[in-house]
Amino acid sequence: MMGFGAALQAEFPLDPGWVTVNHGSYGATPRRVLAAQAAWRARLEAQPTRFMTLEYEPAMAAAGAALAGFLGADAAGLAFLENATTGCNAVLRSLALAPGEEVVLLGHAYGAVRKAAGVVAAAAGARLVEAALPFPRPSAAAVLAGLAAALTPRTRLAVLDHITSPSALVLPLGEMVALCRARGVSVLVDGAHAPGQVALALPALGADWYVGNCHKWLFAPKGCAFLWTAPERRAGTHPLVVSHGLGQGYQAEFGWTGTRDPTAFLSVEAAIGFHAALPRLMDRNHALAAAAGAMLAARWGTEAGARPEMQGSMAVVRLPVAAEGPAAALALRRRLLAARLDAPVFALAGGLWLRLSAAAYNEAADYVRLAERVEAVLAAEA
Ligand SMILES: Cc1ncc(COP(=O)(O)O)c(C=O)c1O
Repeated sequence: MMGFGAALQAEFPLDPGWVTVNHGSYGATPRRVLAAQAAWRARLEAQPTRFMTLEYEPAMAAAGAALAGFLGADAAGLAFLENATTGCNAVLRSLALAPGEEVVLLGHAYGAVRKAAGVVAAAAGARLVEAALPFPRPSAAAVLAGLAAALTPRTRLAVLDHITSPSALVLPLGEMVALCRARGVSVLVDGAHAPGQVALALPALGADWYVGNCHKWLFAPKGCAFLWTAPERRAGTHPLVVSHGLGQGYQAEFGWTGTRDPTAFLSVEAAIGFHAALPRLMDRNHALAAAAGAMLAARWGTEAGARPEMQGSMAVVRLPVAAEGPAAALALRRRLLAARLDAPVFALAGGLWLRLSAAAYNEAADYVRLAERVEAVLAAEA
């Protein structure tokens, strides 16, 4: 059985000179998953035509079945994609919005997804509406009230983050989806951070589409993500690229979008195996993130961003600085990287907030190191 924290660090190729407490942005791939990927690549490159003609389809089907099992979903609705951005774009571009219709996004929606929705809405003469997301420490009732206030008879689609990017809130997704469905609004869930961070049972959520990354919290190599689509939506949901599968159904269309490197997809079973071998990983990470957030808020005399019921494997803490705004956040982030500390900084609620991740290879001492490096950088600025 594998341990956690320092005992697990040899499993990852991470540079030990860095304080890496940012699993949320790009994940970190274990050596044994990278080895599985290298084995797939060797198989492919030994005879590319044989692999692509004879082995690709069954191998992809097996990877899809393994991921479907992990997600509690049916494999027929699951398509592999390179990343969550691609999945959200595919859904948005499949929509055929009408002039005057509205697309609702949450206040803390991911910037790239907001841009994609904006382009699609503008092309159709539709418009984006922002649902207010109270912060810090919103209650579930306050989040639901913000969403309810943004829905109108013109709302065609709600894009709901499962776990918000800048504020690391695990939102009350089941209730949010139910609210949208009750108003006749379709739902795309942006679950980029969710697989491997929180337990998932996709069809039971009642959403029309769910997009998730496996390369963040599920330990898959970079470029491994999925789109799950509800049965009644599959015929109308298309990939961004038209290729040989056109007209042959959802699986055929998403299964071949031109020649690409499928080895990240094919390594998902190894990634799921690594995740499963770590006992109670998600609960352990949630507790570590909450403790680290509380420790830093107390040390800096500030506050943490989430109530316990919205706590996942990440936490945000307000930094003890007067600066605010995205430019100040980016400047500080760059100075932290120069000090070999990887933890992103976001401008929220009139201040700067640091987002920490608690991954399997992190332990409490990492957040003391984080505090020391942040304080050294801030002292050097003063
Ligand atoms: C909420 C959310 N959506 C989408 C993405 C985009 O993920 P990717 O870069 O894998 O497309 C992210 C990345 O952090 C995210 O946090």
